This record gives sequence, C-alpha cells and structure tokens, in this order.
Amino acid sequence: RALVWHACRGLPISDLEKIALDYIVPCLHDIGFCYLDNFLGEVVGDCVLERVKQMHYSGELQDGQLAGQRHGIARRHLRGDQIKWIGGTEEGCEAINFLLSLIDRLGMYCGTRLGNYYVKERSKVGQRGQKGKTDSKMVPVMTCYKQQVPFSLDLHAMVACYPGNGTGYVRHVDNPNGDGRCITCIYYLNKNWDSKLHGGILRIFPEGKSYVADVEPIFDRLLFFWSDRRNPHEVQPSYATRYAMTVWYFDAEERAEAKKKFRNLTDAGKREATLNED
Ligand code: OGA
Ligand code: MN
Repeated sequence: RALVWHACRGLPISDLEKIALDYIVPCLHDIGFCYLDNFLGEVVGDCVLERVKQMHYSGELQDGQLAGQRHGIARRHLRGDQIKWIGGTEEGCEAINFLLSLIDRLGMYCGTRLGNYYVKERSKVGQRGQKGKTDSKMVPVMTCYKQQVPFSLDLHAMVACYPGNGTGYVRHVDNPNGDGRCITCIYYLNKNWDSKLHGGILRIFPEGKSYVADVEPIFDRLLFFWSDRRNPHEVQPSYATRYAMTVWYFDAEERAEAKKKFRNLTDAGKREATLNED
C-alpha cells in the first residue's frame, strides 16, 4: 500500500495556502495523489450532503454516460453512477459554492508549483474521455469505454451517486488523450462508510508501481490525483448509496489546444471524435 500523507484535522481556512504548498504539491509530485480529511467540518459538510441528497431524491441525477463500443455489456456494469453537472450558483447551493471556492483557492495556490502544469481554471470540462475494462488488471486500460461532456459545460462540478446496487466504475483514466484535465479532485460525502460492508473503494493503480492505493469514500474527505495515464483507477462495487462531488483542474495550454482541435472538426468529425476518441 502506498504511503498516504494525512493532513491534520481542522486546519483553519487561512491555512489553505500552507496546505497546498506544504502538502498537496509535494504529495502529488511524490506519489501522484493525496487526500485531506475533515475538510469542511461536520456542520458545513452536512449542508453539502443534504443538498446532494435533495438532488438525488428529487430525481435530478441521470445515468453517467458511456460512448463507444460496448460489445453488449450493459452500461451499469461498466459505469453505474448517476450524475448531475452543477455550477454551484444554483438555488440552495451556497454550501456547495463555498466548497468549490475553497477547492479553487487550493488549486490556485498549487497552480504555479506543479512543474509543467499551470492550473488556471476549474472544470472547463470537455470530454472526460473515460475508458474502461471489464476484467483482469492486465488488460490495457484504454479500451473502448468513455463518458463525455459537452465543451459548453464551463466551471461545473459533477455530483455523482452510486445507488448501492453493486455497481461501480471499471478501471479507467480520466484524461488519457490530452483533453486538458490535469488534476482530478473528489470530495466524498459518506457517513459511517464501512468498506468491508459497503465496498465503494476508489482503487488507484499508479502507473509503473507495484502497489495499489485504496481510498475510502468517507464523509468530508477531499482527494486529489493526476488525471492522466499516471493514475488509472476504479470504483469498486458499492452496496450502499455513495455520494461524491468531482471537479477537474485544467492545464490552460493543453485545454486550449484540445478545444481548438475540436472546433476545427466538422459536425460529423465532432461526433466521430466524441464517440471514437483514442
Ligand atoms: C469518475 C471516478 C471516482 C470516485 O467519476 O471518473 O473515477 O471515487 N470517480 O467516485
Ligand atoms: Mn475517474
């Protein structure tokens, strides 16, 4: 198992810069991922959770999409979550907006310290380029599965719910083909989560390493990892309702390039690109 640095509990918001520079940046460079616990605290975290539950219960979440060849495998066997894209300024989303603003500040402080990566914008999401596989760990990560999001969804966060019917998300890479995404950032919302009973572990398979890293999706945990091929990952089958919210940070240059390429395609080309990327 990988060494995972654990941040102190209850760090005040004024320490965001310190967390970014002393913890997140070195940790990303050293092992490619890291997480912080008790990020918002119980009270604010609860507000986020309640709002997400409200979205779920009122039927606002929709099946996460996969495109490409599936060879007859049902979508939910590959990707079983239900999602909604939110900007954070929707009605009643104050706590979510607050969370996103904190994450943004962390991203900003990390921005200039990530080597080639300059993190300047959050979740200007184009295609997530999701690929997956169905069985053995030795099968190449990039096969034919992916999920896609229109380029027009700027500055959005993805609320996701695995309903607890034993579905997960097969091993995949968020950004295998240079769509601009640089860091994946996931905030988990699950109280009393017991992975032995409920599954739902996020397993990262760091590229070229002999270990895997298991991250439990527990309440008020904020996870960061490189979005590219360095970090194939899977969500193991979940047997209880599992909530999370994800934002992606973009490398501004790579993102601009991907947008330009996409814009230059014909309509048919665009369709082709979103269906058969890779
Ligand atoms: C994803 C994903 C991980 C998680 O949606 O791309 O990998 O822990 N989610 O929810
Ligand atoms: Mn992913």
